[in-house]
Amino acid sequence: MSEHIAIVLGTRPEIIKLAPVVRACEAGEIQYTLIHTGQHYSKSMDEVFFDQLELPAPNYNLAVGSAGHGRQTGQMLIELEEILETIQPSTVLVQGDTNSVLAGALAAGKLDVTVGHVEAGLRSFDRDMPEELNRVVADHVADRLYAPTDRSRQQLRDEGIPHDRITVTGNTIVDAVSQHRGIAAERSSICAELDITDDFFILTAHRAENVDDPDRFERLLEGVGRAAAAHETEVIYPIHPRSAKRLETFGLTVPDRIRTVEPLDYLDFLRLESAAALILTDSGGVQEEACILGVPCVTLRDSTERPETISVGANRLCPPDGGEIQEAVLEALFTDRSWDPPFGDGTAGRRIVEDVTGKQLTPIP
Ligand code: UD1
Ligand code: UDP
Repeated sequence: MSEHIAIVLGTRPEIIKLAPVVRACEAGEIQYTLIHTGQHYSKSMDEVFFDQLELPAPNYNLAVGSAGHGRQTGQMLIELEEILETIQPSTVLVQGDTNSVLAGALAAGKLDVTVGHVEAGLRSFDRDMPEELNRVVADHVADRLYAPTDRSRQQLRDEGIPHDRITVTGNTIVDAVSQHRGIAAERSSICAELDITDDFFILTAHRAENVDDPDRFERLLEGVGRAAAAHETEVIYPIHPRSAKRLETFGLTVPDRIRTVEPLDYLDFLRLESAAALILTDSGGVQEEACILGVPCVTLRDSTERPETISVGANRLCPPDGGEIQEAVLEALFTDRSWDPPFGDGTAGRRIVEDVTGKQLTPIP
């Protein structure tokens, strides 16, 4: 039977990180079906990435939208099962740790379709985070686990997953960055549009544990504001819709030094990251990109599932309610930036599709 891959995605980071897998399928003329759960649906969180990364429109869009975890995941499960029964793929690929990943892995696993988990073996060891539950379940449902690093492979082995299910591929974010950073440098005029001349910092904060608690969100903003004032610099905060809604509901005021802007498209965000003196974030993908682009990072969280970024000296953890953001920023700014990014050589997308299909593919230039 020839391979037919169903690629399930639903949120901004999955679109970005699965784009190299879609490209590898196209280049190798592999049959694939793109299924969008509709978890993200605002133009700036969804369509803009399909356009800019030149991805084909999804074959199916479940349009589940926003809801509580149970309702959102349940609705995805119901609809995914129906589609998978209709199209009968040989493999379902999911990427990362969102509710779309949980639903994709479970729906396929229950139908006895081979499940491939891209970015397997990451652990924050914090079960209060919805992402941790999602990634643990996806890893233990998956038949093929694509670990980005040796460390994530070892984590899977420690949890009893047989070695022959695991392949270390690197992270597809390296493929995405290397395929787009040159184009971003050429085409993006975001620094001029935002009238940025001097050194500046970037902030992204959207994780539920940070922005759903009014006190914690307020302390995070105040801490970042103080750090920016101490360095007489400005912080650009492309604000995720979850955070924008919380700001409004909680009636929080953003400190003067922080400028909120709409979520950016990929080329503009990559360009901004490359030009920044420092990145403060609670995002998973942004921690990786900062490390790849050679920009020091402060992760505003209690834990990270990307400890490799800390080991190489690119990143440090700073819980946002501890009031120590200023010190973390100072330490980051004086970091030697000559670290080696630990996430592979930018061929993860091809390696994953080769593993799924057993076919050798031509490298994408
Ligand atoms: C989800 C993931 C998180 C990931 C993030 C990537 C889960 C449990 N969480 O969080 O791990 O880091 O995506 O960005 O899967 N909203 C919009 N427009 C959209 C999408 C969301 O306005 O296109 C608003 C809605 O008010 C919604 C809220 O954002 O209620 C949260 O959206 P949701 O998809 O539930 O979680 P994220 O915070 O996006
Ligand atoms: N990103 C973007 N525009 C923005 C903010 C982030 O294109 O305004 C990209 C960023 O380059 C990274 C991805 O979104 O590749 C990270 O997604 P997000 O932070 O939403 O989710 P996480 O990685 O935390 O799951």
